[in-house]
Amino acid sequence: MLKDKYAEQITKIFAKYPDKRSAIMPLLYLAQEHYGYVSPEGINEVAELCEIDPTQVKSIAGFYTMYRETPKGKYWLQVCTDLPCALVGADKFYHDLLDYLGIQDGDTTPDGLFTVEHVMCLAACDRAPMLQCNFRYVENLDMEKMKALIEQWRAEAAAEAQASSD
Ligand code: FES
Repeated sequence: MLKDKYAEQITKIFAKYPDKRSAIMPLLYLAQEHYGYVSPEGINEVAELCEIDPTQVKSIAGFYTMYRETPKGKYWLQVCTDLPCALVGADKFYHDLLDYLGIQDGDTTPDGLFTVEHVMCLAACDRAPMLQCNFRYVENLDMEKMKALIEQWRAEAAAEAQASSD
């Protein structure tokens, strides 16, 4: 339950706003962090915390692209393939990345690590090819850099899994 796991953070979030409903968006981030996406349970819990109807929370979660409506991989890679980026190779980069991971557009790798999607302009057109990984920009990419990053993220995930099993 969010209210148990994030009690302190929730108190701090509510303290920033004049009324509870204004805290919907930061609370949705907590729900996303906890469940890996904005799950139906997360929506209900945020609605309960804000004392509003879950349909209102759902409509906000559905409106903003930073909320995941379906489960994603640990590393959610959103590659800009909009025209300015495509003109300098982002489209090819995107398809090479999908081929490298052996998945299709929007899919998640079988190990649950990587979800790859293409998105519209992320306002970093002069640093293409670029992507955001869990909302953090990675710019001036090519496949060599991308492969190194993927191996780094795989190693980090393996180390985390090892640490949590110790
Ligand atoms: Fe890709 Fe703007 S078109 S960041």
